[in-house]
Amino acid sequence: MATVQEKLITPIAGGASEGPRNKVTVVGVGQVGMACAISILLRELPDELALVDVVEDRLKGEMMDLQHGSLFFKTPKIIADKDYTVTAGSRIVIVTAGVRQQEGESRLNLVQRNVNIFKHIIPQIVKHSPNCILVVVSNPVDIMTYVTWKLSGLPKHRVIGSGCNLDSARFRYLMAEKLSVHPTSFHGWILGEHGDSSVPVWSGANVAGVNLQTLNPDIGTDQDKEGWKETHKMVVDSAYEVIKLKGYTNWAIGMSVADLTESLTKNLSRVHPVSTMVKGMYGINEDVYLSLPCVLNNSGVSSVINMTLNAEEVAKLKKSANTLWGIQKDLKDL
Ligand SMILES: NC(=O)c1ccc[n+]([C@@H]2O[C@H](COP(=O)([O-])OP(=O)(O)OC[C@H]3O[C@@H](n4cnc5c(N)ncnc54)[C@H](O)[C@@H]3O)[C@@H](O)[C@H]2O)c1
Ligand SMILES: *[C@@H]1O[C@H](CO)[C@@H](O)[C@H](O)[C@H]1NC(C)=O
Ligand SMILES: *[C@@H]1O[C@H](CO)[C@@H](O)[C@H](O)[C@H]1NC(C)=O
Ligand SMILES: *[C@@H]1O[C@H](CO)[C@@H](O)[C@H](O)[C@H]1NC(C)=O
Repeated sequence: MATVQEKLITPIAGGASEGPRNKVTVVGVGQVGMACAISILLRELPDELALVDVVEDRLKGEMMDLQHGSLFFKTPKIIADKDYTVTAGSRIVIVTAGVRQQEGESRLNLVQRNVNIFKHIIPQIVKHSPNCILVVVSNPVDIMTYVTWKLSGLPKHRVIGSGCNLDSARFRYLMAEKLSVHPTSFHGWILGEHGDSSVPVWSGANVAGVNLQTLNPDIGTDQDKEGWKETHKMVVDSAYEVIKLKGYTNWAIGMSVADLTESLTKNLSRVHPVSTMVKGMYGINEDVYLSLPCVLNNSGVSSVINMTLNAEEVAKLKKSANTLWGIQKDLKDL
């Protein structure tokens, strides 16, 4: 007797099935990993999504919960396993695994614990997806991106840190609120270290091409009577504040990572403030990852925009680089 499926469906002989074209893997299904996953699914970017974590029950639960929403997005295959074979053939791998800050803890304090976790994760990813682009989110993100670059052996343009993409999004939101325009209409960049020493580029802040510094030459400085500098301080403090209030941050980082993923999967060549290898730029001589405006296409970082920074901004960028190198040089077994 033919089954219902056999009665219903007449197969057509076709070519051999091909693998996925836009497979995305998320490593770490915590608050950040799942916010990345849902944001990427709802933007209809991958044809396959793989999840990896070490906590098996949670991993399976998250996979099932997403699969049950299949009616509402267009990624026909969602898989999960603690074994990295599930990630094979990924174009993009987003790494969110590791520990996060406790209330009041700095990002830099997390470093050695997350390095030890990455020593296990990164070689497994590269083994199964040698052609992937790695997007690192775990903190301290600039150092963890350097660590990933070292552990992976991949060329630098295929190892990217989410960096100041979130800081810049927070800045654009806060500035736009003050100016009563939408965040897409306020253009401003935060570069350097994701976190406490990030550098707001006031010299380039503009709306519709009108440079705010020409309207107020003191904008962003201590001399500024309007106090715009406070907005950057709010950006720096915002993760601490959200963590104090809800325990972690996840939605904004998830949406910002989905935005990067879209430029990478769709070969858009949009410019994003993400963490890239900056050795040789702005007089930085060490192997450090810091955020600069990067053009992202199908191959990863295709180029870096040569930002016009003033002397003070360059000095701050170098200071960030020194801070990071001071920590990186003591890391073992990379
Ligand atoms: N770059 C940014 O802008 C940004 C923003 C927010 C959070 N973060 C960082 O993202 C990271 C994750 O934060 P979270 O809130 O999701 O934490 P979380 O504790 O909710 O999730 C971390 C997950 O990693 C998993 N994990 C631990 N070791 C692993 C391993 N060896 N292999 C696979 N998975 C492993 C854990 O089981 C857990 O599910 C933290 O380092 C946090 O600081 C970065
Ligand atoms: C990606 O974009 C670049 C520049 O716009 C273009 O030259 C290239 O052909 C595109 N590549 C693919 C694979 O679409
Ligand atoms: C991305 O840009 C780089 C540099 O312009 C180029 O060499 C590369 O071919 C582009 N990637 C794709 C897939 O087109
Ligand atoms: C980048 O711009 C700066 C000044 O804005 C200039 O001094 C430098 O030579 C430029 N670098 C390149 C590679 O063109």
